[in-house]
Amino acid sequence: MILVPGPVELHPRVLKAISEQVISHRSEKFSELLMEIVNDLSWAIGAESEAKIALLTGSGTLAVESMVYSLVNPGDSVLALEFGEFGKRLRESLESRGANVFTIKAPPGRTPEAGEIETIAKKIKPKYIATVHVETSTGTMINNLKDISKLAEEFGAKLLLDAVSSLGLEELYMNKWSINAIASCSQKGLGAPPGLSFVALSEEAVKRVCETTGKPSYLDLCKNLKFLEKRETPFTPAVNLMYGLAEALKLLREEGIEERWRRTKRLSELLYNMTEDIGFSPLAEETNRAHAVVALVPPNGFSATEIVKALRKKEIYIASGMGDLKDRILRIGIMGYVNESHIEKLVKEMAEIVGRKKIE
Ligand SMILES: Cc1ncc(COP(=O)(O)O)c(C=O)c1O
Repeated sequence: MILVPGPVELHPRVLKAISEQVISHRSEKFSELLMEIVNDLSWAIGAESEAKIALLTGSGTLAVESMVYSLVNPGDSVLALEFGEFGKRLRESLESRGANVFTIKAPPGRTPEAGEIETIAKKIKPKYIATVHVETSTGTMINNLKDISKLAEEFGAKLLLDAVSSLGLEELYMNKWSINAIASCSQKGLGAPPGLSFVALSEEAVKRVCETTGKPSYLDLCKNLKFLEKRETPFTPAVNLMYGLAEALKLLREEGIEERWRRTKRLSELLYNMTEDIGFSPLAEETNRAHAVVALVPPNGFSATEIVKALRKKEIYIASGMGDLKDRILRIGIMGYVNESHIEKLVKEMAEIVGRKKIE
């Protein structure tokens, strides 16, 4: 049983889809596959019809860095919100692009305060505000994206979002919430194999990607969108992974995106409640706990790494913390085709490891 925060176990229909024969990426059949994926991703992300999706062959980091290098010019002022490892990587990527980055940090389990964001944004008047939606390293989520985006608009800034761990799992509306660009990938909430990622660009961002200079070809979203007009990708894409992604998106349409958000919320709440009963406590504050990734502090005296190892012996795979949190927290992904019985089985084993009464 795999309950790590991505990648996820594949649905049998997705597994079957990736075993299709390879096709040329300069064929009509390929164009149809590409456009089907682009349309389904636009729907999943809540994009307006003018928004464009640049599909990329590479993991989520490629999407985040393509978004940064294609939209931000060296010297641009950017306000970065950093509340974990992936926020740190986003900030570092902005810095390596040569942006003038001002960072607001929050300790593990918390997110930057709206008041502080407003004060700083007023002062530095950033061109962009950049943030992670669900911070996978701490199970913490920005719960007021809509307000941050409104605030960004007030100061003439645009919102850049890393939705690698949230897409398909947490409420997200690109158009309604005026998000300028969103980077995400295949192997988490969408339930497809790892290896594909994408950047969704608003109508306004589409114009800007062709105005930035000095970006490497593979990160150049302007080039990608030019090929998209011809219903192609600029470079050889991972066609078989695209078959898998197309099927995973069909499954998402069948379940309904709002239903998947509800399922993720329901299962994460079940997990938070059941584990609290056996002595674990959530790392994140109640107001910004993520549903897609649950981060738990073990009862006193128990090492997270030892619990992960003990679960592995039972063929249950979850993750421990990252960096300084390595031994301090457990991270569980509510991603893929998880249901109540997975959560109950996991908690039963966790209870046994820490010697607490089993949950009936
Ligand atoms: C929030 C977030 N951003 C970026 C990444 C990087 O994605 P990848 O490992 O697919 O490159 C991850 C990976 O877990 C993530 O959780």
